[in-house]
Amino acid sequence: MTGQAPLAAGDPAAPLHSILAARIRQSGPIPFAEYMRECLYHPEHGYYSRAGAGKFADYYTSVDVHPIFGRLLARQLAEMWEVLGSPRPFNAVEAGAGVGRLAGHILDFAAHELPAFYGALEYVAVERSAARRAEHSERLAVHGGAGKVSSSSEIPRAIAAGCIFSNELLDALPTHRVAVENGKLREMNVGIEGERLVEISGEPSTPRLEEYFREQGIALQEGWQAEACLEACEWIENAGRALDRGFVLTIDYGHEASALYNERHNRGTLLAYRDHAVSENLLDAPGGQDLTSHVNFTALELWGRRAGLSRTGLVTQSQFLVALGRANEFADLYEPGQTELEKLRARLLLKNLIHPEGLGEKFQVLIQQKGIGMPNLTGLSGY
Ligand SMILES: C[S@@+](CC[C@H](N)C(=O)[O-])C[C@H]1O[C@@H](n2cnc3c(N)ncnc32)[C@H](O)[C@@H]1O
Repeated sequence: MTGQAPLAAGDPAAPLHSILAARIRQSGPIPFAEYMRECLYHPEHGYYSRAGAGKFADYYTSVDVHPIFGRLLARQLAEMWEVLGSPRPFNAVEAGAGVGRLAGHILDFAAHELPAFYGALEYVAVERSAARRAEHSERLAVHGGAGKVSSSSEIPRAIAAGCIFSNELLDALPTHRVAVENGKLREMNVGIEGERLVEISGEPSTPRLEEYFREQGIALQEGWQAEACLEACEWIENAGRALDRGFVLTIDYGHEASALYNERHNRGTLLAYRDHAVSENLLDAPGGQDLTSHVNFTALELWGRRAGLSRTGLVTQSQFLVALGRANEFADLYEPGQTELEKLRARLLLKNLIHPEGLGEKFQVLIQQKGIGMPNLTGLSGY
């Protein structure tokens, strides 16, 4: 983390900066996880809570590149439905559905290309931000009117058969930050000096931090900093408990623990995004910038097991999309009546999704299953 730039008057981050400064002055430093929760999800000033914030996003996801991403995901969901014996209903529960772009791509494609699956489908768009729920309800109104989609702030408590899936949800969950100092695990907190938010280490706020690293056999070295996203562990456990039979599919930027907690990431992986620029200035502009950290897929597997989830497979996004698209040579890329130039453009956008230098190798797809034997899923067939 580097020096904090002063906030200009009228900066959207100024109100939250004042709220946090007052809280810290009154009650002392707060864990970084609490700071990050306020920055992203404060009901009024949080980055994801502000109405219309998605229109000027400081980041773009695979969903924004081309609808082929959602279309191939729809094919994988339809195959999962068949593997489960074509139950009615089949719940496709999208967690962190945002403004509903991915839901739109999946539902539009299923309605036209996978009618039997669409007939059984009950889609739930789960989104923490009320402003984004309002946006996705409007965007998905056609499917809502047909009784095919509902909107919720939480994952349904009981899902008889279905798939809970997410794209870039878990990297946006508030995470604890720790460091090893004099052989001891310390937690990084946010304090204040004058008007500046500063980082201060202290005793771990919960014994779950020690447990997190112990459970995974991770030995952090002296001087290293790292994240421990306890909220992601809770999230996957809750998702697993809600599900009776089916799958949890997680697409995110991240690694298994052995590749995450090493010399290469010895300052942790948290980054701030503002105006498409990336920085390590995590304490700048609270609520005015996106904050993300890499996902630990080993933790998802371990905490998922506590709720009866077992690993079906982990592949790169590139392997996943190529395996699903090759059956029809990526015919799902095109719209009827497109010119050759438009088709070429679509193929170039696909490259961005699958190319190692683009999103293809950075993102991983973890699939976990519950209540069924080991299935063969096309999306995992490429490894
Ligand atoms: C980085 S955005 C990704 C949006 C979308 N999935 C995409 O790929 O474009 C993360 C979204 O997850 C939402 N979110 C965060 N925590 C959540 C939770 N516990 N339950 C539901 N939504 C959540 C945020 O409000 C935000 O809209």
